[in-house]
Amino acid sequence: MAAISLLAMASKGPLVASFSLATRRAAVSASSSTSMTKLFMSTDTDAAPSEAPPQLKTRTRRILSGVQPTGSLHLGNYLGAIRQWVNFQDEECEPVIDEEKGLKIVTENYFCVVDLHAITMPHDPTELEESTLASAALYLAAGIDPAKSKVFVQSHVPAHSELSWLLNCATPMNWLERMIQYKDKSSKAGAESVGVGLFTYPILMAADILLYQADRVPVGEDQRQHLELARDIVRRFTDLYNKGGAFKKRCKKAGIPSFNTFTEPEAMIVKEGGARVMSLSDGTNKMSKSEPNDNSRINVLDPPKVIRNKIKKCKTDEFVGLEWGNPDRPESTNLLTIYSAVQPKPKTKEEILAEVGHMSWGEFKPVLADAIIAHLEPIQTRYKEIREDETYLKEVLKEGSDSANEIASKTLNSAKVAMGFVARA
Ligand code: TRP
Repeated sequence: MAAISLLAMASKGPLVASFSLATRRAAVSASSSTSMTKLFMSTDTDAAPSEAPPQLKTRTRRILSGVQPTGSLHLGNYLGAIRQWVNFQDEECEPVIDEEKGLKIVTENYFCVVDLHAITMPHDPTELEESTLASAALYLAAGIDPAKSKVFVQSHVPAHSELSWLLNCATPMNWLERMIQYKDKSSKAGAESVGVGLFTYPILMAADILLYQADRVPVGEDQRQHLELARDIVRRFTDLYNKGGAFKKRCKKAGIPSFNTFTEPEAMIVKEGGARVMSLSDGTNKMSKSEPNDNSRINVLDPPKVIRNKIKKCKTDEFVGLEWGNPDRPESTNLLTIYSAVQPKPKTKEEILAEVGHMSWGEFKPVLADAIIAHLEPIQTRYKEIREDETYLKEVLKEGSDSANEIASKTLNSAKVAMGFVARA
């Protein structure tokens, strides 16, 4: 097994929402020419193939994301997260060669079913297994390809829980007290059902990301604050534990390079006006699994009849015709967004409006329902095939977690060395 060499590179600036390959390529070359704080991993094992000049160094960048397996996945999860992952995966499956820098940049994707996060709210143990497997099957049905991306279950990689504890101890309480999602969820739940885990949830999320040195994390806008927290934790950890000769000595003794333990991750937020899917019963609230009213969301696995019915019942307004972006008409914007997102080929807002803008709600609703059904149908068919072949599904998850474990346990070990723990004999 070849040694992993960590190459420090520059950390990038503010969060960006651009997914274009050109931009990323530019970002990579910009970062490689400036200061030396960002970690990239380079392995001798995946050295350049024969067609590439031998002097090319392989640099691995990682994308990591996850969705909670609570209940069934809905259109918001699919359009706002999973479909983005598929785009990333398909855009980036070929390595990018940066000849100037002599680099071959390989992107690896890790998509995880965050079952440990799913127990931060009261959960039903009889449902967790099915919802976890169903989520994984849906990732695959939606287009995540195990040949290009690793899919795994968070709890199958013990390093997530363990790093989470280490980071719990390195994170000030008041950083967590500021988390909007915590304030929101805890104020809705009764005091007795707010577990400590709900409070420390963002630290587990930071551990998910940091274990893989993931530099890009595609998430919805609502997760921006959690990503900022993860970045703050990296900086604090680096300040506390990656400094000075004593740190270098500990690394040397442990036989690991003395680079910073973690990489600062960057959020890749769905662009404003992108597929941010709101509730069907209130266009100002995000479509959510935790909302008790199932009619507020379209689940990816809802049968056509249910979809038609939910669209029929969904909230509308008194206006005539449809329009985007009128603050008094959140439902109109939301339903047009959904309609646009499920088109077989991308259409501009103008094209969408020319097609349906003049319609009354009564005319638009069946058109919208048909478009959603047509979009989801092939996913549902693939889902059934995959979910019925549990041997295959479990094989994919095993391969995913084996690969994840290998990387995660190395980072966990570095974190423990940095913090000064005794090495296990
Ligand atoms: N908190 C995220 C959400 O609710 C899910 C999540 C957990 C996640 N761990 C993650 C997302 C790591 C990205 C990376 O959407």
